[in-house]
Amino acid sequence: MATLPFMSFVVMLLLFSTQISSDTDIITQFHSLHDGTTNTLVNGTFELGFFSPGSSTNRYVGIWFKNIPIKTVVWVANRDHPISDKSGILSITKEGNLVLFGKNGTTHWSTNITTKSSTSSFIARLLGTGNLVLNDEKENNGYDVYLWQSFDYPTDTFLPGMKVGWNLTSGLNRRLTAWNNWDDPSSGQITYGLIRSDIPETKIQNGSLVLYRSGPYNGLRFGATQKLKHVPLFILNFFYKKDEYYFTYQPRNQSILSRFVINQTVSALQILKWTEGKQRWMLHLNIPRDECDNYNRCSSFGICGMMGKSSMCECLSGFTPKSPQNWSVKDWSQGCVRSENWSCREKNKDGFIKFQNMKVPDTKISWINRSMTLKKCKTKCWENCSCTAYANSNIIEDGSGCILWFGDLLDLRQLPDSGQDLYVRSHTSEI
Ligand SMILES: *[C@@H]1O[C@H](CO)[C@@H](O)[C@H](O)[C@H]1NC(C)=O
Ligand SMILES: *[C@@H]1O[C@H](CO)[C@@H](O)[C@H](O)[C@H]1NC(C)=O
Ligand SMILES: *[C@@H]1O[C@H](CO)[C@@H](O)[C@H](O)[C@H]1NC(C)=O
Ligand SMILES: *[C@@H]1O[C@H](CO)[C@@H](O)[C@H](O)[C@H]1NC(C)=O
Ligand SMILES: *[C@@H]1O[C@H](CO)[C@@H](O)[C@H](O)[C@H]1NC(C)=O
Ligand SMILES: *[C@@H]1O[C@H](CO)[C@@H](O)[C@H](O)[C@H]1NC(C)=O
Ligand SMILES: *[C@@H]1O[C@H](CO)[C@@H](O)[C@H](O)[C@H]1NC(C)=O
Ligand SMILES: *[C@@H]1O[C@H](CO)[C@@H](O)[C@H](O)[C@H]1NC(C)=O
Ligand SMILES: *[C@@H]1O[C@H](CO)[C@@H](O)[C@H](O)[C@H]1NC(C)=O
Ligand SMILES: *[C@@H]1O[C@H](CO)[C@@H](O)[C@H](O)[C@H]1NC(C)=O
Ligand SMILES: *[C@@H]1O[C@H](CO)[C@@H](O)[C@H](O)[C@H]1NC(C)=O
Repeated sequence: MATLPFMSFVVMLLLFSTQISSDTDIITQFHSLHDGTTNTLVNGTFELGFFSPGSSTNRYVGIWFKNIPIKTVVWVANRDHPISDKSGILSITKEGNLVLFGKNGTTHWSTNITTKSSTSSFIARLLGTGNLVLNDEKENNGYDVYLWQSFDYPTDTFLPGMKVGWNLTSGLNRRLTAWNNWDDPSSGQITYGLIRSDIPETKIQNGSLVLYRSGPYNGLRFGATQKLKHVPLFILNFFYKKDEYYFTYQPRNQSILSRFVINQTVSALQILKWTEGKQRWMLHLNIPRDECDNYNRCSSFGICGMMGKSSMCECLSGFTPKSPQNWSVKDWSQGCVRSENWSCREKNKDGFIKFQNMKVPDTKISWINRSMTLKKCKTKCWENCSCTAYANSNIIEDGSGCILWFGDLLDLRQLPDSGQDLYVRSHTSEI
């Protein structure tokens, strides 16, 4: 009978593989991860180990999806300090730092934490969410208080369970920074994150140059988000607290893999989902979505995508092109200026015009009060001659809160089926 030896072979194989996997479950001071071996950390759909991207021969420590045939890296430790050969060792020092050593013990990356005690009970584990975490096992502060976690230092990918945003106490800004190219994960110029402000909104930037902004969160969504025709893939939650603000996302269906990635090739944020049938990533959403999503496409007091207009850019009513000549040949870069008859706080020469379905202007020079009524908001704007517009900060139900804008109104667009009311100061007899 051939069955028996075969069975014992299977049992042996099982024993052997459990031994290996229990061996490689965690990293401790006494158990490192060596490049050039097949050792990796695995948990659920994620795997951590050494890899070389694309056609590069450089070695990096990274995390990728385990169960899909297309190697998709979601996090890189030493993105700016590659190791040129397979000498890498990921280890924990007696001070409790997770450190990546290269040849001759040179440090290529470190978690850089400072701990009080010097113990041997530090462990690094990969969680099922793809989060690499560092704990002191002896500290009885619970497993979800980490000394360090990779989710606090994203590379180019945003996953369910991660936060994008600020810890205002420590100044930690969790934002995405694109790979330079697909052979090189080093920090690129394109970033995606929340700006630090009383009125936080997300921006895609090239260095300090803004390429896209989402509009502030209005209680339901970031202002520029259009209503989706199909059932959304995920739910986005925004949190605004005293010491931190951030957003997270949750997939509606936990069994569908998804990711947000900032892609330098196209200077865009891409939301992708894995399709089991086709065995590939499908683009769910590309931001910016259209021409009008590009930052400040129609310049000061210009409005992009006005419904029922043939031209892409229009001046807000009460405003005229700064250079009619340039405007007529679709050079929008000079924007619009107030028509001459406006006079601050003068009856019949100053008032507010309501625009519906608006992505509200850039909040760079703005003021917010989250409990003020719209009526008081209007009065407050009227009183100050440099106030150019006002709107509710929250649009749930009848709306609440107050945002004031000062100076030029930038990056305005109209959205066919979302947005909100914006009141722009202008020459009008109706006040
Ligand atoms: C590593 O050590 C060897 C022998 O001491 C030396 O020849 C080599 O230059 C060192 N390499 C680096 C990268 O420091
Ligand atoms: C750790 O500190 C070193 C030296 O200050 C610095 O070069 C390195 O970028 C830091 N690493 C991380 C991951 O912040
Ligand atoms: C896998 O992740 C879960 C939580 O996501 C965690 O409780 C568990 O300890 C992890 N397993 C290992 C071996 O680290
Ligand atoms: C923010 O950072 C401070 C200081 O490092 C820390 O004590 C606090 O726990 C952090 N807050 C959150 C919500 O992570
Ligand atoms: C970012 O800006 C720099 C300098 O203005 C420019 O050279 C580069 O092409 C831009 N990169 C992208 C991806 O737009
Ligand atoms: C979740 O997605 C899986 C895989 O695509 C599918 O089989 C399942 O029906 C979905 N569940 C729900 C509740 O939609
Ligand atoms: C970046 O975006 C382009 C255009 O959608 C796509 O072809 C390319 O595969 C993307 N890069 C990655 C690594 O996803
Ligand atoms: C019109 O555009 C040209 C070329 O961009 C520029 O030099 C000129 O100053 C613009 N005219 C006005 C009035 O701004
Ligand atoms: C400005 O006011 C004058 C006199 O009241 C009027 O003739 C002119 O049409 C007005 N211009 C605009 C742009 O409203
Ligand atoms: C915000 O508005 C409320 C209601 O009008 C008012 O009581 C409060 O003093 C305002 N706060 C600030 C900082 O202006
Ligand atoms: C009007 O608002 C601006 C911007 O907040 C401020 O600098 C200025 O002092 C205000 N002027 C008056 C008269 O309140």
